[in-house]
Amino acid sequence: VRRQVVYDDIGGLTQGVYDLIKEIDDPSKGDYAFPCFSLSKELHKSPVDIANELASKINDERIEKIESVNGYLNFFIQKEYLIKEVLTEYGNKRSDYGKENHKETVLVEYSSPNICKPFHIGHMRTTLIGHALYNIYKYLGYNTIGINHLGDYGSQFGKLIEGYKLWGNEYDLSVDAIDKLVEMYVRINALASEDETVLERCRENFKKLEDKEPEYVALWEKFRDLSLEEFNKTYDLLGIKFDSIKGEASYSDGIDEVVNILEKNNKITISEGAKIVDLTDDGIETPCIIKKSDGSSIYATRDLAAILYRARTYDYDKSIYITGYEQDLHFKQVFAVAKYLDLDEKYVKGLEHISYGLYSLKEGKMSTRKGNFIKLDDVLNESISKAKEVILEKNPELEDLDDVAKKVGIGAVIFGDLYNSLSKDEVFDLDEMIKFNGETSPYIQYMYVRIRSILRKNDKEVLLNDVKYDKLLEGQAYELVKLIYKFNDVLNAVIDKNEPYFLSRYLIKLATTYSEYYNEVKILSDDIDERNSRIYLITIVSEILKTGCNLLGIEMPERM
Ligand code: ARG
Repeated sequence: VRRQVVYDDIGGLTQGVYDLIKEIDDPSKGDYAFPCFSLSKELHKSPVDIANELASKINDERIEKIESVNGYLNFFIQKEYLIKEVLTEYGNKRSDYGKENHKETVLVEYSSPNICKPFHIGHMRTTLIGHALYNIYKYLGYNTIGINHLGDYGSQFGKLIEGYKLWGNEYDLSVDAIDKLVEMYVRINALASEDETVLERCRENFKKLEDKEPEYVALWEKFRDLSLEEFNKTYDLLGIKFDSIKGEASYSDGIDEVVNILEKNNKITISEGAKIVDLTDDGIETPCIIKKSDGSSIYATRDLAAILYRARTYDYDKSIYITGYEQDLHFKQVFAVAKYLDLDEKYVKGLEHISYGLYSLKEGKMSTRKGNFIKLDDVLNESISKAKEVILEKNPELEDLDDVAKKVGIGAVIFGDLYNSLSKDEVFDLDEMIKFNGETSPYIQYMYVRIRSILRKNDKEVLLNDVKYDKLLEGQAYELVKLIYKFNDVLNAVIDKNEPYFLSRYLIKLATTYSEYYNEVKILSDDIDERNSRIYLITIVSEILKTGCNLLGIEMPERM
């Protein structure tokens, strides 16, 4: 119904008109509204007249009532009709509800931390946002590939190798390897700043690494493996897997091709010995450096080589990158230069950078264990132990306390991160995120668990056939049905705007609406028809809460 009914009845107007249809927040004013303002010009009539005229013309049994109000058409959908429609569709599709099929391939590049550096809170957002978008694209049926573009290249590895040669035997790298590598790195930097010959050795090391001398490659691989081992612990904690983990270094072989194509297209100019691409014609003042004066590539060059690789390997339709907004200029430059790589236009058009605001920390609230970064692992573990405290208070006898605390604690951090528009800077406040009675995932999980406990009390499985639609007209039941109906729209809104918060807010709305319903009616009514219908409805609610949370990357406990 919903949009489709309205659409048919206003006579097959364009998609643009279809998109104008809005939900009405206040149910007493109707379910959906169609604003007539934009038609006014074309039809040479006032919006009020258009609305009046349409209201008198539309006659459809699926619509209970139409009101023309100040240039809006307000539609009241026939409730039982919508309830039947939605429940039947859900009953038929169950775990496929809201899914679609697409043939397009979407690359989602996210997380991409730098090796030999701690996985700190700065990389948290790309990891969580990217994982959610990845899940949602996949759920909607796109051929989705998750890529971790590891930062594993750069002259700093020449230094680290030098540090390792000097002091490697002082450190036990089997525990907390990254911390120790960072320590060596800090030490060698101090030494190199005093002693030019040390710096020279570091440069030579990097040169040998670039020339693929086995001993040097082996050391670099060792650092990389140790780093990945630690990153994987964090990914495991978050339940994240990638389809491809491919570091920047792997693109060094593709650099020459990038330079050759750009040279052939007369795009390279020399500036102070460096090869650059001037981008003033593209409206970007800062040129993109392709090769530094010493002949080495930069971050952007490797991104360009990666674009060539990904176009060939995946034949992508869309390729999205998720980073903080401090990389806005970088991606503008890279995407502009990509136009000159002789790529099929679709690959250039498909490039999309999604940037997000920064986190600031609520002063003194979070312990910084070592150094001046906050490690993501520490944050997650702190959240888990806070969750444990809250749960113990509420339910001291809970079995599986550790498992539940993990789901609640990690869920809270994920949900807190995905609750606002990405562009907003955020204050990271764990105490707010973990609240059971706020707009948080513990609240949603709690509602889910309460539904599950009611369902356990109902002895037999309820089937669609047992449902009497007229038993779902009471209280918030109809609002729940409308929310269920909206699920697929919400997922599409997330990928259209690259904003996971549409889903987070939807889930809060679903959970609070459920809680209102629960307070209004007795779910396990003595009237068997009432009971069955209500049970069926709240079963769907629980399943959507679960699916929705899972898509954000949050796991659901069964009790808490
Ligand atoms: N490793 C980079 C960093 O930590 C992020 C990489 C983003 N992706 C890219 N294709 N440049 O800042």
